[in-house]
Amino acid sequence: MTSDATRFDGKVAIITGGAGGIGAATARLITARGGRVAIADIAFDRAEALAAELHGAIAIALDLESETSTEAMITQTVQHFGRLDVLHNNAALLSPEIAQHDGDIEHMDTALWDRTFAVNVRGTMIACRAALPHLKATRGNIVNTVSNLALQGHLIQAAYSSSKAAIIQLTRAIAASHGKAGVRCNAVAPGMTMTPALREAFPAALQQVVEDETLRDQLGDPEDIAEAAAFLASDAARNVTGQVLVCDGGSASHVPGLTGFRAFVSGEH
Ligand SMILES: NC(=O)c1ccc[n+]([C@@H]2O[C@H](COP(=O)([O-])OP(=O)(O)OC[C@H]3O[C@@H](n4cnc5c(N)ncnc54)[C@H](O)[C@@H]3O)[C@@H](O)[C@H]2O)c1
Repeated sequence: MTSDATRFDGKVAIITGGAGGIGAATARLITARGGRVAIADIAFDRAEALAAELHGAIAIALDLESETSTEAMITQTVQHFGRLDVLHNNAALLSPEIAQHDGDIEHMDTALWDRTFAVNVRGTMIACRAALPHLKATRGNIVNTVSNLALQGHLIQAAYSSSKAAIIQLTRAIAASHGKAGVRCNAVAPGMTMTPALREAFPAALQQVVEDETLRDQLGDPEDIAEAAAFLASDAARNVTGQVLVCDGGSASHVPGLTGFRAFVSGEH
């Protein structure tokens, strides 16, 4: 291993949802560390604008719900750069309208459930399937963005959280089946991360509830998740595969009731 195994010199990464909060931060970080990125997003205008800022980057119009579009993303990237080293499956179905209607199972809309799984799970699987022959050629790797909601139960987003749990199992399956061919596959699980979209859409009072459960004195930024994803995607993580790296400021690490306990010992009760 080189002394600077965190760098991406000569390497090519696809970042789906790369025009969004966390994906854009990861695209910037991988570029700063010497890599070239394909920013693949349904928001093509934003992908193009970011690609214009980043040395060697290209923008790709992607609709993860479409098999053709998802396969074309891999083909276009390999045609342009001649190789693929990292597939970062980061896009997800996330609009506030979807999130508002994704509640508990008793009230689940079947079409919403199907669409969530079509974009998040089926789309990720298709991208992995199309990328694997190219990743075998470069001994590359896959990093899937999941969520802390895939690891613990909540009142909200039963479809989203179930889809992210399915991606964790997809991660392990690929790691197991392709490790001997030189391909690693890992997942990064963010906790609530203050992207521009979330800052706008998530009620401030609820942000405080989540922050109270965090062991840091603030919620994570997109750059925090980018660091975790870039680590997994780099040679510095060459001995790490089939894993979920939770990057949530410790929210999911502690026993239930910690927030109330903290208030009790500090005399607030
Ligand atoms: N922000 C958080 O608090 C948080 C927490 C846990 C997990 N995550 C995960 O992190 C990842 C990035 O989320 P973010 O917060 O940066 O969201 P974001 O909305 O800022 O970015 C998501 C991007 O995905 C793109 N996208 C959506 N549907 C697509 C499709 N069908 N095809 C192609 N692109 C599509 C959007 O255009 C957007 O640019 C997601 O997988 C999300 O589930 C985020």
